[in-house]
Amino acid sequence: MTSTDPTAGSPGGSPANASVAAPDETVPPRARVFSGMKPTDGVLHLGNYLGALRGWVAHQDERDSVFCVVDLHALTIPEAVDPAELRSTTRAIAALYFACGLDPERNVVFVQSHLTEHAECTWILNCVTPLGWLHRMTQFKAQAEARESVGSGLLTYPVLQAADILLYDTEVVPVGEDQVQHIELTRDIAVRFNRLFGDTFVLPRAVVPKAAARVMGLDDPLAKMSKSIAAERAGHAIGLLDSPAVLKKAIMSAVTDSGRETRFEHASPGVRNLLTIYQVLADAKVEQVEERFAGEGYGTLKKAVLEVVVETLTPIQARDAELMRDPAELDAILARGAEQARAMAAPTLARVKAAVGVGA
Ligand code: TYM
Repeated sequence: MTSTDPTAGSPGGSPANASVAAPDETVPPRARVFSGMKPTDGVLHLGNYLGALRGWVAHQDERDSVFCVVDLHALTIPEAVDPAELRSTTRAIAALYFACGLDPERNVVFVQSHLTEHAECTWILNCVTPLGWLHRMTQFKAQAEARESVGSGLLTYPVLQAADILLYDTEVVPVGEDQVQHIELTRDIAVRFNRLFGDTFVLPRAVVPKAAARVMGLDDPLAKMSKSIAAERAGHAIGLLDSPAVLKKAIMSAVTDSGRETRFEHASPGVRNLLTIYQVLADAKVEQVEERFAGEGYGTLKKAVLEVVVETLTPIQARDAELMRDPAELDAILARGAEQARAMAAPTLARVKAAVGVGA
């Protein structure tokens, strides 16, 4: 059961029409929400922001939310791990959560490895997860194809993700479109566990934003904007901490086409991606966006995108710089978050262990 926009998989996602109820709005009030981001390949990009973080912030008053920086997930490609860098990126991502508006007073925000419960629950879930389910995961297939040596952590990565979600009796997981398959797997694992050992887990569902559920690369609008590609190619992504000069270079050289089509439905993938970014950040309706750019060349669209991106990111970057000036305070906030998270996860793990007959 996934609350998705049926066209969310198309490049740039679908345009949000303000008259259509966003899937986000189908989430019941006070629903338990869990989501997280991986501290790999530097900090976050606009895809992470529009696909997930922006919605977390927008709904933080209506929901009972838990957000995590999932650092154990960053270990699945050990050759790429630089321990000191992993620790600092983990803190930097937490800082960006707060800089984007997530309030640690209204949400539980913590680092995955600060609790032992996630790894412990993962072992038990590994034992109920058929290998065939894991081999079918498209992210695993893509990652495994790209490398010679594949660690078992890469294959069982989605089981750790299932533990993250199930430990908090999560009902709703707000994510970008690329994570939907993992959330569906989580649900399947929970159903299988409940069938084998009795009712233990709440069944979660994914919720993706109506627009920008899949932000595409600026230099290659057929590939999703990704941190790993961004680490290799300037001009691929819009980094949340990029300077106006870097943003200008990336956005003004975004791939478009040789025409002047600026209607969402008829636009080429690169143009649709830019229209979607503009629409969401300017909080405009489809018709307003189409009207504004009708008959204009793509230079006008790119300039408008640049303007709205800089306008959005400038205050985020200022708050981030301030937060990063006091790492001890950040660590204290995360330590409090870990305590709150443990108080929620420990009883669930105790229930799981009792169900399978282990533990004191
Ligand atoms: P990660 O770290 O790759 O991405 C974090 C969030 O950003 C979304 N996202 C995008 N949305 C739109 N367009 C894009 N181009 C784009 N790129 C990334 C992702 O969908 C995600 O919501 N496995 C997860 C992390 C994770 C997790 C969890 C998520 C671990 N445990 C439990 C939810 C619940 C991941 O690698 O996300």
